[in-house]
Amino acid sequence: MNLTVIGAGYVGLVSGACFAEMGNHVTCIDVDAAKISGLKQGQLPIYEPGLDAIVQRNQDERRLEFSTDLSSDMDRSNIFFIAVGTPPGEDGSADLKYVLAVAREIGRLLTRYSVIVDKSTVPVGTADKVRAAVQEELDKRQVSVDFDVVSNPEFLKEGAAIDDFMKPDRIIVGTESQKAQDLMRQLYAAFNRNHERTIFMGIRDAEMTKYAANSMLATKISFINEIANLCELMNVDVENVRRGIGSDGRIGFSFIYPGCGYGGSCFPKDVQALIRMAEDHDYDAQVLQSVERRNHQQKRWFSRQLDKRFGADLTGLSFGVWGLAFKPGTDDMREAPAKTLLSDLIARGARVLAYDPIAMETAEKELPSEWFNDGQLRLTSNQYEALQTVDALLLVTEWKPFRNPDLEAMRRSMKQSIIFDGRNQYEPDYIRNEGFEYFGVGRVSA
Ligand SMILES: NC(=O)c1ccc[n+]([C@@H]2O[C@H](COP(=O)([O-])OP(=O)(O)OC[C@H]3O[C@@H](n4cnc5c(N)ncnc54)[C@H](O)[C@@H]3O)[C@@H](O)[C@H]2O)c1
Repeated sequence: MNLTVIGAGYVGLVSGACFAEMGNHVTCIDVDAAKISGLKQGQLPIYEPGLDAIVQRNQDERRLEFSTDLSSDMDRSNIFFIAVGTPPGEDGSADLKYVLAVAREIGRLLTRYSVIVDKSTVPVGTADKVRAAVQEELDKRQVSVDFDVVSNPEFLKEGAAIDDFMKPDRIIVGTESQKAQDLMRQLYAAFNRNHERTIFMGIRDAEMTKYAANSMLATKISFINEIANLCELMNVDVENVRRGIGSDGRIGFSFIYPGCGYGGSCFPKDVQALIRMAEDHDYDAQVLQSVERRNHQQKRWFSRQLDKRFGADLTGLSFGVWGLAFKPGTDDMREAPAKTLLSDLIARGARVLAYDPIAMETAEKELPSEWFNDGQLRLTSNQYEALQTVDALLLVTEWKPFRNPDLEAMRRSMKQSIIFDGRNQYEPDYIRNEGFEYFGVGRVSA
């Protein structure tokens, strides 16, 4: 099959590469000329384990191509995936300007029956807007071309995106057209060899499914964080509570790790967008509002701990930060708890050494340059260098090399052997016996 993916970001690039890997011909289109020219030379704009090999192989075999020009693909493709960003607007609602710009461009170029697929996360009712935008452009051209709009939200996780795309838990396809359904079934057949994973439903149902899934996961995280905060106050070990409730099959172990809050390009914006959708319908989405508020405050977990331990003024103190990406396995720092922490530390006069196995380049690009210029923040070349004469380690992202570190080397480097563990990576008793002062999220105090 011949398909076009518009938007070569996390979702577009992974989807395009995986569809090509299944034998399809795929063109990935992006307005970012530098990104496309890099991709043509084999440079990936994102870090995603396993993606480079798939992109390279399919490029070599000419199944995967990159371009800035959508018009060149119109005669070949009959499925157009829209995979551009839907960032939060001023009021938190999903900003559809990129999605609708692509829809209009397709409308300006469409010549034969095609399926236009919303893969971006878009609010309920967006498919109607996409259809109207395409139709408006066809009307301007005074041509009549049959087309269908389908909702096919993406559920991949950054850091495990290839596996998630190749072996998805489910493939959600929202459509009211039998013709579009048949085409989508054919496209996804390669991913359904083991068992049927596609769930067909109405377009609006599919749009809501994506928001409901992300909001449910965010709710689990905010819920366990609330329990952890209560544990902290009542001298209860949340890790025991986590194991105790996770073993209940109705609850399960996933997404109930207490920590310093969730970040990333999806959960924060999707929960906010669903709250705004509710408001548009005069509905007060109380659970979602609490999920968002709890997360906002949870990102300040370190700040509260530092307050208690060192006081409000951190002048003259220095801290080693382990982990900058919003989660392990990615270089993405969008809405990362590390950003909240660094702003707070620097505003309070502290000096910071920081290390991340993958997100250093992103940090250099995204963090304010004055932090570096003023010497308040320095990125180090390894995790131990980030502990040189610091007053405490702040563990923000649970990368694997942080799990079982060289405690002896840490003690030697640090001025004070204090650990604030924002992801509960260490056993408090063990780490305290090793001579560290230790603070975890919802762990029993010493
Ligand atoms: N990142 C994830 O893990 C993830 C997972 C599931 C769903 N989503 C959703 O998928 C969508 C895309 O997310 P992302 O993280 O891939 O975004 P991204 O910012 O990484 O990529 C978006 C790309 O679209 C390009 N673009 C913008 N306007 C364009 C246009 N008119 N024509 C061509 N290209 C254009 C941008 O240059 C950029 O490269 C969002 O709606 C997001 O919520 C993301």
